[in-house]
Amino acid sequence: MKDLVAAKLSKDPRIAQAKSLIQAALQAAKKEITEVTPPQGERQLYFIDLTSRCSEARGGNIYYPYLGSGIGNGSLVELEDGSVKYDFITGIGVHYFGHSNEDIVMSSIDAAIQDTVMQGHLQQNADQMHLMESFLDLARKNGAQLDHCFLTSTGATANENAMKIIFQKNFPANRMLAFRKCFAGRTMALAQMTDKALYRDGLPQSLNVDYLPFYNENDHEGSIRRALKILRKHIERFPGLHAGMCMELVQGEGGYFPGNTEFFKAIIEVLKENNIAVWFDEVQTFGRTTEPFAFQHFGLDDLVDVVTVGKMSQVCSTIYRDHFKPRPGLVSQTFTSSTAAIRAAQVVLDNLKCKGLCGGDGKIMKMHSSFVTNLKNLATVFPGQFTGPYGLGAMVAFTVFDGDLEKTKSSANKLFENGVISFIAGKNPTRIRFLMPVMAVEENDIDEVCKIISRTMTECKG
Ligand SMILES: Cc1ncc(COP(=O)(O)O)c(C=O)c1O
Repeated sequence: MKDLVAAKLSKDPRIAQAKSLIQAALQAAKKEITEVTPPQGERQLYFIDLTSRCSEARGGNIYYPYLGSGIGNGSLVELEDGSVKYDFITGIGVHYFGHSNEDIVMSSIDAAIQDTVMQGHLQQNADQMHLMESFLDLARKNGAQLDHCFLTSTGATANENAMKIIFQKNFPANRMLAFRKCFAGRTMALAQMTDKALYRDGLPQSLNVDYLPFYNENDHEGSIRRALKILRKHIERFPGLHAGMCMELVQGEGGYFPGNTEFFKAIIEVLKENNIAVWFDEVQTFGRTTEPFAFQHFGLDDLVDVVTVGKMSQVCSTIYRDHFKPRPGLVSQTFTSSTAAIRAAQVVLDNLKCKGLCGGDGKIMKMHSSFVTNLKNLATVFPGQFTGPYGLGAMVAFTVFDGDLEKTKSSANKLFENGVISFIAGKNPTRIRFLMPVMAVEENDIDEVCKIISRTMTECKG
């Protein structure tokens, strides 16, 4: 086939030269960011003004005084106040490659010379098709029968689309099942499913959801027994009315509680008997266990009907079996995602496929064990103040002061001031959690982060 004009442009030596100049400049700039540094004195007033204007413009305070300058180096990020911090929450799981990763930046340059800023239903370029196939290849790698993939730009929209195709398939069922303490997103319907009253404060009820207790690793048999009993009660109370069950396989916002294969299988058996769709919400877990998908980690490949992913994938996705295919008109959108996000997502998925990331001895688990070993030491140094660590793979958390919300918040804030960005999760207990920049993080980063955690714990002791 004859080269298209677009291909000629991307192969133009001037583009290659420009890219290599940009790369060289980026490498030089990154070299200046080598360690945690405090805010620069002369920038403090300017930064306070910037963050307060930001809060004012959006109509509510930003959680941390975090406004990025637009550059970082791996696990480190530079903020507008001139400080450099370890980013161990990565925008709640977004900067999987760390900051200013050259492959990601170069993919944005490739995107920048494309004609289309935002791709969508009547403006798709071929790269979107390659991305869908990559999602499907990864999802099917251990045999899951997942046939289709619909891309979108947020985890919430991926979840909305999942819910719509499940309801349409199982009409007239009009209820959903979910786990207690789940988080599913912030649309009207998902705020209803998310098991947190604050997030639907003032909203009319838009969805009927029935909840099951999640897995408790300290009571394996009891967890299964209780969940099944409650599940059967719900089904008996509303026969034929549950369209699907949304499951996080490791609870994220709920506080980093991993599930268990036997537990999930027992629940799914009952769901299948009752024609209730099995939907795994992997918006947070994707790319964080021994496999690209957590359902692969837990060996649930033959049971999944619908799976949603987001965050680290840059473009979000609803992946589903053929018989859940929506009728025309149900899912569509002007904007799928930006071309830059689509190109970056391709880099992410290519890496998940082949760079020694997954598997019991892949980088995800190596970084997990290094972080967890360090944190276990801290638990012995601060008895009563620090417990854990908890979590799975690249989702790690610990509890301070028995999970008291206010004390945990203030410990996380102190940690931020000292140069490590974390976030809180869960209620009773509330925990401090981390989503490491998996591709960028090194042993040395983990050591430094743990030193800062230790110093922060000492400061918070009183
Ligand atoms: C499990 C889960 N589902 C859905 C979402 C919503 O994703 P988004 O914030 O991209 O809409 C999140 C976000 O934290 C999540 O953790």
